[in-house]
Amino acid sequence: MPVITFANTKGGAGKTTAVLLLATELSRMGYSVTVLDADPQHWVSRWYDLSKPVSRLTVIPYVTQASIDRHLEEQREQADFILVDLPGIRTPLLAKAMGLSDHVLIPIQGCAMDAQGGAHVLELLQYLDERLGLKVPHSVVLTRVNSLVTTRALLAVKGLLAQRNVDVLNVPIIERSAFRDVFDCGGTLHTMDPSRISNLEKARENARLYAEDVLRRLPLANRQRGGLQASA
Ligand SMILES: Nc1ncnc2c1ncn2[C@@H]1O[C@H](COP(=O)(O)OP(=O)(O)OP(=O)(O)O)[C@@H](O)[C@H]1O
Ligand SMILES: [Mg+2]
Repeated sequence: MPVITFANTKGGAGKTTAVLLLATELSRMGYSVTVLDADPQHWVSRWYDLSKPVSRLTVIPYVTQASIDRHLEEQREQADFILVDLPGIRTPLLAKAMGLSDHVLIPIQGCAMDAQGGAHVLELLQYLDERLGLKVPHSVVLTRVNSLVTTRALLAVKGLLAQRNVDVLNVPIIERSAFRDVFDCGGTLHTMDPSRISNLEKARENARLYAEDVLRRLPLANRQRGGLQASA
């Protein structure tokens, strides 16, 4: 069961939103998902308290550097996917969580400050590779992307990532009010009322395509999906 860690040392890059969208989409597809919430703002845990029960989805709050191994051990048996939401700061938990992961997703908004937080994560991944021989596959997911215009800042960030040969998901997470409102309303994009949330259908489609794009990056998950389809 793949462990996916979301990391960017810049606060507000869109990690928690990307975690929640992936967790709810994967559980909707039929996978059982556990989120380890190590974000000091506890947004996913608060959302879970508001929403539960959510089929096939569990959120473990207050995950720390001291407890993450135990939580992973406990959840490995029951979860198809474990997603780890990290704080938006430099912390020893970052290297530890990344070292335990099958894939690291780096959410980056199209701006220089976010890109710098992402670059720090990339440097740490390189360090794990060079010093410990630990190669952790990783991809950037562009977040809060404007659906109408491509900003110059976004183009600059994309150029930088291409120069460094960093894998970038084909599907960016678009700036959508539904992705904010889901934290207030509880539930999922599919339980929200389309007459009250603008562009909800587009948000649902974006979340689905994003989750499918992540799955394509995970060879382990693809094998599992084959099994899921065969047994369906
Ligand atoms: N795609 C999006 N569309 C609309 N709003 C978004 C989107 N992504 C993030 N936001 C908003 O941006 C803010 C920061 O997002 P989020 O909490 O996901 O970032 P974070 O990286 O987890 O932050 P932190 O480092 O503080 O934990 C929140 O108010 C969130 O609702
Ligand atoms: Mg967060």
